[in-house]
Amino acid sequence: MQKVRKAIIPAAGLGTRFLPATKAIAKEMLPIVDKPTIQFIVEEAIASGIEDILVITGKGKRPIEDHFDANLELEQNLRAKGKKELLALVEETTAIKLHFIRQKHPRGLGDAVLQAKAFVGNEPFVVMLGDDLMEDTIPLTKQLMNDFDVTQSSTLAVMKVPHEETSRYGIINPSGKIEKGLYNVTDFVEKPTPEEAPSDLAIIGRYLLKPEIFEILEHQAPGAGGEIQLTDAINTLNNTQRVFAREFLGQRYDVGDKLGFVETNILYGLKHPEIKDDLKKFLISLVAEMDTEKK
Ligand code: UTP
Repeated sequence: MQKVRKAIIPAAGLGTRFLPATKAIAKEMLPIVDKPTIQFIVEEAIASGIEDILVITGKGKRPIEDHFDANLELEQNLRAKGKKELLALVEETTAIKLHFIRQKHPRGLGDAVLQAKAFVGNEPFVVMLGDDLMEDTIPLTKQLMNDFDVTQSSTLAVMKVPHEETSRYGIINPSGKIEKGLYNVTDFVEKPTPEEAPSDLAIIGRYLLKPEIFEILEHQAPGAGGEIQLTDAINTLNNTQRVFAREFLGQRYDVGDKLGFVETNILYGLKHPEIKDDLKKFLISLVAEMDTEKK
């Protein structure tokens, strides 16, 4: 029986939805209150029992490597000033060991995943996207790994989305349930219009894949948007072996989208011990002010 030990975090996209913020830094480094989104993803991988993580980086992505590297000057400065809590936060990120590889040109998510072929070898692995932060009692990646222990098959995380939003996602065509929340899939459709969408179950940013996907990606032609699409390769994989979909019932924060990013910052701010009380007061007074303006 095979076990999942490795994770890939693609972070080589252009992040055009966040320009100009992403002109010089990766969108994965944009913070939710005080933590870069990529750190949430790395923490989910570690909490799921993943042993080895590869980040796919691109042009201008150096800050990601620096974030998880030691910064001796900063550490010494915090130590000298007795700022123990901040020092602990910095040391926590330094302790995380990651591997990095570059995707030379941002040709699409499928091409980014292909860069991990040598790292993954002949093992099942997970792909984790920084666009989605997930919260649940069992981390979503761990849920996929638990499914794999039983099925030994590729499994994608999906979630119900409003019908009018299907064109923003890869949508599955389910063909019956294996058990509660685990679907057999006929095919995957990239960004269908609501009329064309075979269901409201959208692929969210966690994929557990078998290594046969690499042979397919090597020959994958560009698809939607002229990019090498991971979804297209998964469709081909589904012709030769079973691919399942696990419905996620926890909380998803879409931080790859401007509005979702701002909303998530507010929601996390309302949970952050240092600022939650003042932020709540600010929001209440803001709403009151807006109500008065309306009258
Ligand atoms: P997105 O579709 O969110 O693309 O990619 P993007 O370029 O980052 O962002 P926008 O749409 O222009 O704002 C999903 C994930 O795949 C990675 C991205 O970094 C992101 O984590 N990706 C995408 C790559 O690593 N390489 C690519 O060529 C494309």
